Amino acid sequence: MGVKKVYTIITRKTNWCIGQTRKFTTKLPEKPTYISTPIFYVNAKPHIGHLYSVVLADSIKRYHELKGHNVILSTGTDEHGLKIQQAASANRKSPQEFCDEDLFNRANISYSKFIRTTDERHKEAVQVFWDRLVAGQYIYKDVHEGWYSVSDEAFYPESQIRAFTDPSSGENYMVSIESEQRVVWMKEENYKFRLSILRDKILQWLEEKPSVIVPEFRVNEVKGWLESGLTDLSISRASSRVGWGISVPGDPEQTIYVWLDALINYLTVTGFPWSNDTRDTMLSNGWPADLHVVGKDILRFHALYWPAFLIAANIPLPRKILAHSHWTMGKQKMSKSRGNVVDPFQLLDLYGVDAMRYYLMRDGGIADDGDYSEDWIQERYRKELAGQLGNLLSRCTSATVNPSQHIPPKPAKSTSEDIILHQKLIELPDLIDQCYDEAQFRKALDLITNTLAEANKYISDNQPWILVKDPGQAELFDEERRWDAAKFGKGWPDQNNLSRHLGTLEKVLFPPLRK
Ligand code: MSP
Repeated sequence: MGVKKVYTIITRKTNWCIGQTRKFTTKLPEKPTYISTPIFYVNAKPHIGHLYSVVLADSIKRYHELKGHNVILSTGTDEHGLKIQQAASANRKSPQEFCDEDLFNRANISYSKFIRTTDERHKEAVQVFWDRLVAGQYIYKDVHEGWYSVSDEAFYPESQIRAFTDPSSGENYMVSIESEQRVVWMKEENYKFRLSILRDKILQWLEEKPSVIVPEFRVNEVKGWLESGLTDLSISRASSRVGWGISVPGDPEQTIYVWLDALINYLTVTGFPWSNDTRDTMLSNGWPADLHVVGKDILRFHALYWPAFLIAANIPLPRKILAHSHWTMGKQKMSKSRGNVVDPFQLLDLYGVDAMRYYLMRDGGIADDGDYSEDWIQERYRKELAGQLGNLLSRCTSATVNPSQHIPPKPAKSTSEDIILHQKLIELPDLIDQCYDEAQFRKALDLITNTLAEANKYISDNQPWILVKDPGQAELFDEERRWDAAKFGKGWPDQNNLSRHLGTLEKVLFPPLRK
């Protein structure tokens, strides 16, 4: 009684101490796989790009769930800062909330946590985090001046701005070269974070974990920023200018910089500050994050500032950051002023949730931008979803081909044509695994669609509606949905399982489009 067993475990690849052997007196808590999306500003209408970030994260989350992992997916809204404050005063009321939450619910996003930075729990987490930075002597007060973009909520150095003339009003002003957003000169006393002294540590992290940023070429971008030097970062604003936010502990005259506030959301959702503050509590709550999904425009905040803040607060760094590319329209950046924005709600109503999710994953960019086109939504719908997937399902399950509506037995013999298709089906799950490992989602869907096309061709060639009297020719229908069930031949009945019913198809999968 009372003697604890000593376990020795070689952890799995997905565990936090990869490949290490360690001894401990209690069982390791199971670390959930933790995937996050960015949190979204509430001052603008939900955008197709927002939906893309979230569908991407949800697709990866569901993939891990199919593998039987316990997964947390977090998303939410970024509700503080000057940008939101200005939107609020323009409307003479509290910030208008265009609700991304409604969009994500409409799009069937299976998030486990929805965080708002105005949550009381989050305020507490941010203030504890701030105190840790103070305790580590990473914060000092100084006069800060520079070019600030309210839209990006970021300061830019002189080398990253240029003059700009507004084509419609003729007004001259300065903009950020990277984001093309207007910048204004700002000068005031702020708290600063000693980012500059962390340069080597961030570099070391990138060298030691070369695949921490996906796609890999983006690592060079981050290294380039590091090589051009890091200056200390202003991490507060005078409350008289920016009152919409979380106050600096012990100094209500200053409001915490919105990006520091926003990044800490990733910890808040894991219950930070963790009770007992032990490594095991941290792990069982999900931290470190397994994956931050972000757009390429906010990589600097996630690959430089966030690791720096975490190193300073002595908290482990995230395991992976996936920086996706953007949606353009007519190869142009989407923007309200160009009038090339689309309403994701309307598209979901028109084409349905699954078709839109499919389109975003099929044509959305990871390394390169994806160009949005409604013609392509229709093309993908007609040719791939209705023409291949829907068609194959109805062909395999129709009462003409399979009058008993039961899963047919394993065929007694196979033709060479059968064997070729069988082999492709055997190989497919591993190929998809590889694509998900390499963030090649487009390729994964391409492989699946090509296989569907081959299966459809097989059916056309073999004409089961003619061979219907031979039930051995009918195709399978398997109700099992997990990854390990997605193996060729898995659902074939054996002696113990002779009469599995196909189930009932309530409606046609991907019916013809009305427009
Ligand atoms: N609030 C910050 C993120 C804080 S995370 C700690 C923010 N919000 S945002 O609402 O402006 O953007 C959220 C996400 O939408 C970003 O990942 C951004 O890349 C993505 N998109 C916005 N426009 C986009 C496209 N046109 N295409 C694809 N995604 C883009 O930044």
